[in-house]
Amino acid sequence: MLEKLPLKMDLETKEVLKQLSKTSRALAELKGIANTMPNQNILINAIMINEAKSSSSIENIVTTHDEIYKAMVKTNDSTPAAKEVVDYRSAIWEGYNLIKEYEFLNINIIIKIQEKLEHNNADIRRVPGTVIKNNVTGEIVYTPPQSKEEIMDYLQNLENYINQDSDIDPLIKLAIIHYQFESIHPFYDGNGRTGRIINILYLVLKDMLDTPILYLSKYIINNKKEYYNLFQSTRNTNNFESWIIYILKGIEQTAGETINIINKIRDEMYLMKQELRSKTKIYSKELLEALFYEFYTKIPYIAKILNVSEKTAQKYLDMLVDLSFLTSEKVGRERIYKNERLFQIIKDLT
Ligand SMILES: Nc1ncnc2c1ncn2[C@@H]1O[C@H](COP(=O)(O)OP(=O)(O)O)[C@@H](O)[C@H]1O
Ligand SMILES: [Mg+2]
Repeated sequence: MLEKLPLKMDLETKEVLKQLSKTSRALAELKGIANTMPNQNILINAIMINEAKSSSSIENIVTTHDEIYKAMVKTNDSTPAAKEVVDYRSAIWEGYNLIKEYEFLNINIIIKIQEKLEHNNADIRRVPGTVIKNNVTGEIVYTPPQSKEEIMDYLQNLENYINQDSDIDPLIKLAIIHYQFESIHPFYDGNGRTGRIINILYLVLKDMLDTPILYLSKYIINNKKEYYNLFQSTRNTNNFESWIIYILKGIEQTAGETINIINKIRDEMYLMKQELRSKTKIYSKELLEALFYEFYTKIPYIAKILNVSEKTAQKYLDMLVDLSFLTSEKVGRERIYKNERLFQIIKDLT
């Protein structure tokens, strides 16, 4: 039987504490560097797109950046997988906005995230039969709680654990929360992805980060076997040390990589700023940030940001195409302008 939280054991073992201090340091460094970025949304958008892609691919929803781009600008030939990735990003944004508003993370918010992800209101499982299988052999490895009452009971317990302050470090708690959420497995589908969104929301909720910019999916993909094995070995031995260290290491590594991403985007923005200044007369901070907000932009958006007519905005954008800052294509009746350099940076990260 799945244990309720808090676990009645000492989680702060010597090995855990050793790793914890490295992880905390890396995360604090990331938090500081992220806060020096003038426009946080640029970073969030860029990083989230890759997380949405990676987290989906853990669940065998596999796509490419080019397909994601098509889904984002709504070309007719975008694939279902790419659409799911774009929705995944909306689900993270939704969760983030909700916890910012309410300053806690409850069952309702978790359900809302999962709904956004799966486009349905399937709600918590009510029909028994959901099991976790080994995806190679098909053998049942774990049977989560089956009745809706039981599931709700565990979720309520998890909600309390998430929101109550305790003397255990939030990073250790994050590892426990992820294990527990996946073990409750409250939905028919989308548990993995929802659980990984809960992780980032929890980091923000506990002020470990100010914005949702640290995601473990890439690390999990690179250490996927361990991810699955650890669920089971933790369950079998009731020893959480390896699991906690696995998650803490992931946060440490990812914090380092995220710092690199920030630096890359910042360098590219700086470069473009210099070029815009030397080659055009239209440089402004607002324009530069708009070009990096997503890896594509549209005429009405630029018109609004710069407070100019759409005709003028189009003139600017077309000039930026001529100067090779952007590429452009027509999608339906709209013209889309793509920042290929930012797109390349994002692509290179996975
Ligand atoms: N043995 C296990 N015990 C608990 N959770 C597991 C186990 N193996 C895998 N998981 C979790 O279940 C997730 C898959 O569940 P699923 O509902 O299909 O989510 P999604 O649709 O997002 O893939 C994995 O990503 C992982 O987080
Ligand atoms: Mg699934």
